[in-house]
Amino acid sequence: MMLKGKTVVLGITGGIAAYKAADLASKLTQAGARVETVMTESAMKFITPLTLRNITGRPVVTDMFEPASEYSEEHVALAEAADVIIVAPATANTIARLAGGIADNMLGTVVLATEKPVIIAPAMNDVMYRNTVTQENVARLKARGFTFIEPEYGRLASGKTGKGRLAETSKIIETIEKVLGIKTDLEGKRIVVTAGGTQEPIDPVRHIGNRSSGRMGYALAEAARDRGAAVTLITAPATLPAPGGVEVIKVKTAAEMKKAVVAAVKKADALIMAAGVADFMPKTAARSKIKKESAALNIELVKTPDILSEVKGDFIRVGFAAESENVVANAKKKLLAKHLDLIVANDITAADSGFDVATNRVTLIDRTGKEEGLPLMSKREVAEKILDRVKGMMK
Ligand SMILES: Cc1cc2nc3c(=O)[nH]c(=O)nc-3n(C[C@H](O)[C@H](O)[C@H](O)COP(=O)(O)O)c2cc1C
Repeated sequence: MMLKGKTVVLGITGGIAAYKAADLASKLTQAGARVETVMTESAMKFITPLTLRNITGRPVVTDMFEPASEYSEEHVALAEAADVIIVAPATANTIARLAGGIADNMLGTVVLATEKPVIIAPAMNDVMYRNTVTQENVARLKARGFTFIEPEYGRLASGKTGKGRLAETSKIIETIEKVLGIKTDLEGKRIVVTAGGTQEPIDPVRHIGNRSSGRMGYALAEAARDRGAAVTLITAPATLPAPGGVEVIKVKTAAEMKKAVVAAVKKADALIMAAGVADFMPKTAARSKIKKESAALNIELVKTPDILSEVKGDFIRVGFAAESENVVANAKKKLLAKHLDLIVANDITAADSGFDVATNRVTLIDRTGKEEGLPLMSKREVAEKILDRVKGMMK
């Protein structure tokens, strides 16, 4: 779901390749995008709005003076709602229209009214494409910042072979992702993330827990997934919904987490431990509920098994240090003691950082002791920064 939360305005114009726009609309929708289709009058001679409406689940805009959607000023609303506009296929005529700033149909008007990136995927007869006037129009639009996806060489609808075929759907989607700044730099990598706060049982109804909400680990799992990695999320109890497209393994205690991590890292390229793992657990858990009649209750605590000591292998290790004092010094100690490649230190005494908030302010420290203090940012942004560093350390 690389395009989740993104609005893509898909402009379809009147060329033979218009039927391929249905496949593009389908793939974009499957990738999570909200696809708002705008068709020219000529496009409707080749493919029906009904097809696009059913594929995208959204009304299709065909007539500038007949609003199709909930938007009142449709051209302005679409121009603003778009994260990106893709015209595929783009006819020579539409390219000329856009180059001239002509707004005599809905697509021309939306493109003129937008400040968002516009991508053009031309498709036409090779002579039309080579024609100086078409090339001049392309050059003008490029100079204005439009992105072009070059047509491909191959068999054209006329039966001739030449340069003019609409680029492959995969190439168009790749370009959209690139323009939107969506990275796929972790494709082929396996990343194991731990999250949540472990619970160490005292008796059948009570446990020792901690304040870890799971937000940082879940943000890491989602970010790694969106960048193309195969992600295993080993999660202790958290109140967040399980992210889609990620292998989720639920555990409760530190001991269970250790077992799951040891199994999961066998093929991993990186292990990122964002879980709040208990350092101590009750030596024994009472088999039945401890009654409150006793005047006092003493629970003997022992150390939990250390996860990292037994997790061996050739992968990047990232740990977290949630500290309330001497943050950086304590984090550095942990980095060395646990043989980490990177440690993410945060001061949990700050209100906008640490547990159960959507933001975090962290310092990244690597093996050489180099520190990078990051400003306050969302946990997702922190996750991206951590993954940038993980990527940099991978072979
Ligand atoms: C059968 C047929 C196929 C066409 N294929 C293309 C094409 O692939 N590329 C193109 O630029 N024009 C093509 N045209 C011409 C366009 O449909 C025509 O220029 C039209 O005005 C484009 O309008 P639009 O840009 O508003 O969609 C074709 C016309 C017909 C009749």
